[in-house]
Amino acid sequence: MGNKMNNIIYFDNAATSFPKPPSVTQAVVEYMTEYGANPGRSGHKLSVRAGETVFRTRKKLAEFFGVKNPMRVIFGSNATDSLNLAIKGVLKQGDHVITSSMEHNSTIRPLKKMEENGIISLTILKGDEKGKISVHEIDDAILKNTAVVVVNHMSNVSGTVQPINEIGERCRFKGIMLIVDCAQSAGIIPIDMNRDNIDIIAFAGHKGLYGPTGTGGMVISDSFEFSRIKSLKEGGTGSLSDREYQPDFLPDKFESGTLNVAGIAGLGAGIDFINIYNDGITGIIKHKKELQDYFLTSAKNINGIKFYYSDEGPGVVSFTIDGMSVSEITTELSEKYCIMSRQGLHCAPLAHKRIGTFPEGTVRFGFSIFNTKEQIDKTVKALKEM
Ligand code: ALA
Repeated sequence: MGNKMNNIIYFDNAATSFPKPPSVTQAVVEYMTEYGANPGRSGHKLSVRAGETVFRTRKKLAEFFGVKNPMRVIFGSNATDSLNLAIKGVLKQGDHVITSSMEHNSTIRPLKKMEENGIISLTILKGDEKGKISVHEIDDAILKNTAVVVVNHMSNVSGTVQPINEIGERCRFKGIMLIVDCAQSAGIIPIDMNRDNIDIIAFAGHKGLYGPTGTGGMVISDSFEFSRIKSLKEGGTGSLSDREYQPDFLPDKFESGTLNVAGIAGLGAGIDFINIYNDGITGIIKHKKELQDYFLTSAKNINGIKFYYSDEGPGVVSFTIDGMSVSEITTELSEKYCIMSRQGLHCAPLAHKRIGTFPEGTVRFGFSIFNTKEQIDKTVKALKEM
């Protein structure tokens, strides 16, 4: 990954993946240097090429998430942006919402705000000791006015994976809409929105999909009536410019303003990278699981270490060490050993309450396919020295 990475061990891939594949950087640079025009706004060749790049990424994402119509991929700036759109766009006065204790603040905060404003009522399911919820818990929580279940596919704290297939089946049966936060799972766990009966997903482009930061979006399933989603912003789309009202077709209804074409170009290359990686997503899961198992085995004898992880969502391992604060650990790892990790609550306080690590939080390692067992050896040695 270039000489600049030689001394760095980067284990903060659950926050954003780094390094990016060279093909991602190349796609960004290509756009910036060869055809950096505004897509869908002008008729000239460069604008058309930028539009094609955006469309190609849209198509790749639709295929990646099992959706037939690429126009149902709505670009946003990150998963938070898209969760806000999905949640605030569909919920109405008097609705009841069910969610889990493993949610990121990107879901909890919009929901809490709506609850505080008297728009919705909210049930937060506890789940088991890892925060994994069951369909029975959902059944028990359903009220007459339950409109939506919002659930985090894979926890950014502990890798806990929710049974979205079973949840999807139940929601479909009960006529309840399902929104899934795939910020952490996209590129790590296969997602098929039609198979899993998911109505809307929100994804981050810059984590497991290896795109640049500032990329992400919402995908609406082929069968979901998208007119049920209100737009949260209106503005220029390059379409129907003679009208003073927002177009009501996809994706323009939700995509006002110039898109992050550089990022979207990189994201397209990120998806290609995943698809052609050794066995695609299966190869990625295998690599992350191997690294996770290797770390857990190598570090298990460190005095007072306690791990929080899931075999179902490999690559995210949180831990604490008795007698050391989490910030002491990550600061020393960074300053003395050039090992990058994240400490604290990871914007998911309820998840830490559930797994018993609130308010101190944990140290988190997020592995990527660029990490190696040798890096883990160095890290475990550093932890032992510390
Ligand atoms: N949500 C990101 C994380 O977990 C930023 O670190």
